Amino acid sequence: MELKKFYQADPHRYDREANLYARCGKSGVLLPRVSLGFWHNFGGIDPYERSRAITHYAFDHGITHFDLANNYGPPYGTAEETMGRLMDDDFRPYRDELFISSKAGYDMWPGPYGNWGSRKYLFASLEQSLKRMHLDYVDLFYSHRLDPQTPLEETLQALVDIVRQGKALYIGISNWPIEQLRIGEEYLRRHDVPLLIYQGRLNLIDRKPIETGILPFCKEKGIGFIAFSPLAQGLLTDRYLEGIPADSRMARGHFLTKDRLTPELMEYVLALKSDACKNKQTTSEAALRWVLAQEGVTSVLIGASSVNQLEQNLKCIDTNK
Ligand SMILES: NC(=O)c1ccc[n+]([C@@H]2O[C@H](COP(=O)([O-])OP(=O)(O)OC[C@H]3O[C@@H](n4cnc5c(N)ncnc54)[C@H](OP(=O)(O)O)[C@@H]3O)[C@@H](O)[C@H]2O)c1
Repeated sequence: MELKKFYQADPHRYDREANLYARCGKSGVLLPRVSLGFWHNFGGIDPYERSRAITHYAFDHGITHFDLANNYGPPYGTAEETMGRLMDDDFRPYRDELFISSKAGYDMWPGPYGNWGSRKYLFASLEQSLKRMHLDYVDLFYSHRLDPQTPLEETLQALVDIVRQGKALYIGISNWPIEQLRIGEEYLRRHDVPLLIYQGRLNLIDRKPIETGILPFCKEKGIGFIAFSPLAQGLLTDRYLEGIPADSRMARGHFLTKDRLTPELMEYVLALKSDACKNKQTTSEAALRWVLAQEGVTSVLIGASSVNQLEQNLKCIDTNK
């Protein structure tokens, strides 16, 4: 039988940048200040070898945290399948160096048990995620959104029990409003499964976690905060300064719509670019640096459709500038 050739990670992956990791709240976990998200670019419609190259570059540069969810793709589930393939092809020997998260909360399969926050859904969904990713456990499992119909205690107890079963090491909450977050934090703490992290959208043009008090709350309680869409899906980069490229998220999907390209936004991005240039930075780098500078932010959770983008974005942790 032919032996499978595994990818060899760069032996210097932890040497490059002294400040690559930050403590996640008051936990034992260190997270890279830049984490890699699989929402786009890792699905069944995307070229596997490109996804593979992006993850290799990430891991070779010390990015140990990959963020997934049951519904990432498209189609749904296929980003986790890509992760499973990557585990088999490349990352199995590095499993203990990786911090892999998944989530459940959005519509995943038909019928009354494939959505929201019931115990039935969360348990079944995580089981499916583990099978797709070829993993025995995830490092972090999130409630992806609040379910206003299910008693909070049911969702929270399911999360506690998932940890007790060893299917996840830590619990995170994403997109919950602050009132429910407060209840969740207390419930989980009382059940000895302290909330590790909150995942919320934070970028220069969407500062809700600051305005609603979520970020200060996380800081006060020792909960980590990971900022998703820190580049506003690419708006806070040079991507759309000369039109809408055919291979861009805006051209390809429905999550980023053309109406976001207002004259005000374009003016804002041009000013950001000009300020960034003065500091010898790129637009995306400046946007990421702003998020990382907000008190309480543990990591920026970026997306990338090429190694080149990732390379550019990683400059935001360069402390020599
Ligand atoms: N919890 C939640 O509800 C939730 C919601 C959304 C996201 N997330 C998580 O957050 C992760 C990141 O979200 P996101 O993809 O929206 O993040 P983002 O970093 O704001 O946007 C990533 C996109 O911006 C463009 N881009 C990135 N770097 C660039 C550069 N240097 N120059 C030009 N364009 C650049 C690329 O778009 P092109 O494809 O056009 O090249 C890339 O796909 C997701 O993968 C997921 O893990 C979580």
